[in-house]
This record gives sequence, structure tokens and C-alpha cells, in this order.
Amino acid sequence: MKIEPLPGVGAEITGVDLRRLSGGEFAAIRQVYADHGVIFFRDQNLSEEDHIAFAERWAPININRFFAAHPDHPEIALVAKDKEQKDNIGGGWHTDHSYDLEPAMGSILVARELPESGGDTMFASMYRAYNALDDATKAEIDGLSAVHSAHHIFGSGKSTYYSTTDAGGNRIGNASAADVLTDVTHPVVITHPLSGKKALYVNPAFTVKIVGKTEEQSKDLLARLYAHAMKKDFAYRFQWRPGSVAFWDNRSTWHWALNDYQGQRRIMHRITVEGCALH
Ligand SMILES: [Fe+2]
Repeated sequence: MKIEPLPGVGAEITGVDLRRLSGGEFAAIRQVYADHGVIFFRDQNLSEEDHIAFAERWAPININRFFAAHPDHPEIALVAKDKEQKDNIGGGWHTDHSYDLEPAMGSILVARELPESGGDTMFASMYRAYNALDDATKAEIDGLSAVHSAHHIFGSGKSTYYSTTDAGGNRIGNASAADVLTDVTHPVVITHPLSGKKALYVNPAFTVKIVGKTEEQSKDLLARLYAHAMKKDFAYRFQWRPGSVAFWDNRSTWHWALNDYQGQRRIMHRITVEGCALH
């Protein structure tokens, strides 16, 4: 097994077959995942059953409430964009599930049908983003919490992401479940449950407010943190090929599915595994 750290964020792991990992290989991969936030594999040959079995080695599977499921495997969420669609799922910097009290650990994405070109995914390291903050900003955000919500993305309102774009359709549903979700708060800086390292934990999609600040102060601070976290130094652009697998950690990374392949289909299989409360 070979581990190659990538510029910005993540590591590529080669020389392994995810269908038959030894206990030692699995432990080593787990460490790379904790340290780097996202891991990539190439030339894998995972059936749906293999994908599920690999996910189950990490944590119980979280069956997504909003995404359409694979017709034969409810554990697998379909992240799909059709030829005639304009908008895509995940087309902006975000981290999944921050609107949950115990945000899912991460997702294992397997490429099933790729456009001829385009459709890369950007990842960004929130470990690096936090570490590179100046001391004054670190002191300013120390001890702060932020409110996270899914209402404006997955909910049934007229101005939600999925009601104002064509990204959803039959690919995203269950808006009434989003409507009744209670907004949650998480620390702005978390100590990562696997690595013990500090990470910045706010994101442009689901973080709606900093607790104890006015609307304007909150917007200002979040805008500053986002502008910083979006710097190229913390990011890596992953190009999918048939057989590619990415597994990202929601707590220490952001991701962004680039939408630059109009007129082509892109079908990905996603399995998400459970996480824990964040402190
Ligand atoms: Fe996502």
C-alpha cells in the first residue's frame, strides 16, 4: 500500500483492493483518513454489495432522508445529474449533514457514469483553514457556536435550493422531513473526533448564524471565514475516472461538485456512514 499526500488536502492510496482489505490495511487507511480528511482510490472494481461491505467496516450506514435511493440497495443514495438538467446536487462549497445533531462521519462516493470531461469534485481542508487563521481571528472564534439548518436547502419553501433549481426533481425528495428538522448548533471550531486536531466547522450551505451575534455581525464574520477557507492553498481538485472512489470526512473538509458538463449525464453512488456529536 502506498500513500501519497496531495497538495491542499487529501491523500491518494494505491496498491489496495477495497474488496479485500486486511485488518492492518484497514487500520492504516483509517489513520490516513483521520489525518488528511479525504482519501482517494483508483481502479477499484466495487459492486454495490462491495461498496456496502466496505462502508459497514467504518460505521453504521446512514440512509439518506432526501436523496433518491438505488432501486435495489436503499443504503446507496444516487447522486445524479441528467443530460437535460442545468443545476446539480452539491454545486457549491459545503459539508454534508452539518444540520444534524450528530453529523454523519462522511461519505464514500463511487463513480458509476461519468461525463466525457468535467464533473470534478473540489475538496478543501478545514484543518488547514483553521491552522492558517491569524491569532486574532482564532481568539475571536474560540468558544463560539453556529446554527446549522437544512430548511433553506431541502425544505418545501418556495425559495429553497431544490425548489428554485432543477437539481432535485425525482432525485431529491421528502421536503416535509426537512421542514420539521430542528436547527442545531455546533462549535465554530471543533476538535476532530478521530484525529484530535482542530478544524473550522462552518460552511456556506448550511450554517445560518453565529450564536449571540446580530444578523449583520454574524454575516460579516462568516463571510470573512469563508473567504479565508476558500483559498486555493487548502483545496484539491479531484478528477474522476472509471473505478475512482473518494471517501471524505464531513468534519474536516468541505466539498463542491463542479457543474461544468452540461448536456451529459453523471451518476455517482454514495454511501454515508454515521458520525457523532461534535465538541
Ligand atoms: Fe455533499
